[in-house]
Amino acid sequence: MAKKISIAIDGPAGAGKSTIAKRLAKELGYMYVDTGAIYRTVAYFFDLWGVAPKDIDGITRYIDELTIGIEYDEEGVQHMIMNGMDVTGDIRTPEISQKASLVSAHAIVRDMLLDMQRDVAKQHNVIMDGRDIGTVVLPKATVKIFLTASAEVRARRRCDEMLAKGMKADYNKVLKDIQQRDYQDTHREVAPLKMCRDSIKLDTSDLDIDGVIAAMKEIIAKKVPQ
Ligand code: DC
Repeated sequence: MAKKISIAIDGPAGAGKSTIAKRLAKELGYMYVDTGAIYRTVAYFFDLWGVAPKDIDGITRYIDELTIGIEYDEEGVQHMIMNGMDVTGDIRTPEISQKASLVSAHAIVRDMLLDMQRDVAKQHNVIMDGRDIGTVVLPKATVKIFLTASAEVRARRRCDEMLAKGMKADYNKVLKDIQQRDYQDTHREVAPLKMCRDSIKLDTSDLDIDGVIAAMKEIIAKKVPQ
């Protein structure tokens, strides 16, 4: 099998990784893998089982009861399957965001998910987004991009998204949540969010989506023969 192309996109919560990666994947004909959704599924599972995300004993005891599947529908949308149940819609709440950030700090959780992520990249050309894709999951990725923006800009964008969906949005609360997740994701011992040396940093604070896509395409074109 020919070696597959992999584009690793890492960065903090709300930097626009998934919106950008989804669009790029469609345009380039790659498979989009949202690894945050996998950690969210783990968090949702333990939430249902009444195990707190910091409770390493409970997590160790019950983790073997969890099976995770990733499926794609005809539009290329990623669906998360937890023990046979489609939980794609259930994992997108602020509570699960926080719990995913905490549960993902445990080595036992990260170890369980490593091969699953690597296997997808072995079989398909992928755009994979997360926190440790360039550093741990795919250290030999064809292209590594670190997508970021100031916490204030990320909070504002998140609020706008919530308002557009008809949800209530409290800017100060959203900003606090983002700052807390940034802290947790960058300060954990195992596979913390950090930029690797061979990663290209793209600050999207002053760019709109089209601007980010154009900049990403330019970066990718330099590394991937078109
Ligand atoms: O990308 P997201 O916001 O859906 O991710 C939810 C949480 O999952 C995030 O706060 C940290 C964790 N995560 C991780 O530890 N490693 C990844 N590759 C992706 C997400």
